[in-house]
Amino acid sequence: ALPEHCDFTVFGGTGDLAFRKLLPALFHRDLEGQLPDDFRIIGVSRSDLDTEGYQQLVREALPGHVDPAGHDPATYDAALQRLVGRLHHLVLDAEEPDDWHQLHGLLKDRGRTEAVGGPDEAVRVFYLAVAPALFGPICARLDEIGVVDPTARVVMEKPIGRDLASARAVNDAVGAVFEESQTFRIDHYLGKESVQNLLVTRFANTFLEPLWNSRWVDHVQITVAESLGVGERGGYYDGSGALRDMVQNHLLQLLCLTAMEPPTYVGRETVRDEKLKVLQALKPMGPQDVDRDTVRGQYRQGLVDGQAVAAYSDDLGRAGSSTETFVALKAEVQNWRWAGVPFYLRTGKRMDRRVSEIVVVFKEPPHAMFPGSEGATTANRLHILVQPDEGMRLHLTAKEPGPGGIRLRPVSLDLSYATTFTQRSPDAYERLLMDVVRGNPTHFMRRDEVEAAWSWVEPILERWDELGERPLRYPAGTTGPTAAAMLLERDGRAWQETDQ
Ligand code: BG6
Repeated sequence: ALPEHCDFTVFGGTGDLAFRKLLPALFHRDLEGQLPDDFRIIGVSRSDLDTEGYQQLVREALPGHVDPAGHDPATYDAALQRLVGRLHHLVLDAEEPDDWHQLHGLLKDRGRTEAVGGPDEAVRVFYLAVAPALFGPICARLDEIGVVDPTARVVMEKPIGRDLASARAVNDAVGAVFEESQTFRIDHYLGKESVQNLLVTRFANTFLEPLWNSRWVDHVQITVAESLGVGERGGYYDGSGALRDMVQNHLLQLLCLTAMEPPTYVGRETVRDEKLKVLQALKPMGPQDVDRDTVRGQYRQGLVDGQAVAAYSDDLGRAGSSTETFVALKAEVQNWRWAGVPFYLRTGKRMDRRVSEIVVVFKEPPHAMFPGSEGATTANRLHILVQPDEGMRLHLTAKEPGPGGIRLRPVSLDLSYATTFTQRSPDAYERLLMDVVRGNPTHFMRRDEVEAAWSWVEPILERWDELGERPLRYPAGTTGPTAAAMLLERDGRAWQETDQ
C-alpha cells in the first residue's frame, strides 16, 4: 500500500534524469491522484538555487516532458501547481558537513507535530541520480546523519560498476548502510509495459509453454535497436560501450524473462530467483567463443530517416575511440529446456530505426507433405514487439485461396496493443517509482542478478581488451556491420526484421 507520508529525495535533482524522467513520472502519478497529500520531493544538487528558484525551474521545464492528453487544462494546471508545491531544493556539497546537517534538518522537520519515529514518520526514498562513484559516500553520509531507518529506501541508477569487481564494491558500499530489501536497482526495461507483459503472455496462457523449449524452438533473437546516436552523452558512453550500456542489463533481462521457468507465484523474490537461474545457466564465453560469437561495431556517418547524421567520432568530438556502439552475439542457456538453442542478441545506436523485439523462431515442420511445397513453408515465428509499437505477431503458413492445387502462403496474426487497449500506457519510470514508494522490489535488479550478469559479460570485455581491435564501422542508418548478419548466416539463419 502507498504510505501516507513520503519524502522523496533526489540526489542529482537538477540533472537530466530528474527533468526528463523522474519529475515527469511523479507529475503523471500526481495527475492521476496517486500521490498522497504529504509527499515531498527534495531535489538535492550543487546548483545555487533556493526552493523557489527550483520550483520555478521545474514549472518551466516540466510541460516539455509531460503528456497532457486526456486531461482538461484546468486539471492539468492544478496538478502542475500541486507538484511544484511539493518541491524543495537543497544545495549540497558532499564534502560539507553543514550541508548534510541541513538535509537532516529538512527530513526531520516535517512541519508536523507527531513525534519523530512515530507511526506517522515519513517513508524516505533516496534516489541516487548521480555518478556511481558517489553512491557509497552518499549512503555513508545518510547513515551518519541518522536518516536511514528500516523503512528508508535507496534507488540506484545504472551503471552499477563497469565490471564485476567495481559492481561488488558499489554493492558493498551501499549494502553497508541499506539492507538488500531496501535497495532498488533500476533497470527501466523492467518497468516497460511490454516487458511486464512478457510474463503474462508466457504464463497466463497455456498454448505457448508446451512449445517453449528446445524441442520446438529453433532459436531466439533479441533486438534493441536505436536510431539515435550518443548525442550529448559521449563522455559517459565512451567509457562504457554497448555491451556495458545495454547488454549487461537490458538485453540480458529480456533474455531472462524469455527463458526463465515459471515461478510458483509472482512475488518479490520468486521472479528474481528464476531470472538468476537463467543468468547462471548462460554458457561462459571463453576467448574462442568471444572471437567466433561476438561482433562489435561503431557507426560512421550515414543517413537516418533521410537525414545526414555524423559519425560516432564526430559526436564524441575526437577520433580514435575503440568503443563499440553496436554489439551482436550468440549466447546459450545451458539447461534442460534450452540446451542447443541459440539466443542471438543485438543492440546498436544509429541503426535504421528504433525497434525492440523478441523473436522466437520455431522449428520447420518435420515433413513437407504438400506436393511442390518443399521449401515453401516458413518456420512459425512469434514476434513480441516491445517498442515503439507494442504488440505480438505470429507468423503462420496458410493455403492461398484458389481452386487449383494447394499453394502455401505466409500470413500473420497480429495483435496491436494500441488498438486493443485504449488507456494510456504509463512510462516505465511511473511504474517503477511507485513500486519504490510502495516498497515492492519485484521489478528491480537484485544484487546477485547484477553480479551474475557482470560475471558473464566480463570475459567478453577482457577478450576484446586483449585483442585491442577497433570495432567494425557501419554506416549510420543501417542494421549494423555485415559481420552481424554473418553470425546468423553461418548457422543457416537470418535476422528477422519486422515492419512495425
Ligand atoms: C539506457 C542507455 O539505459 O537505455 C541508453 O543508457 C539507451 O544508452 C536507453 O539509449 C534506451 O532506452 P529506451 O527506453 O529508449 O529503449
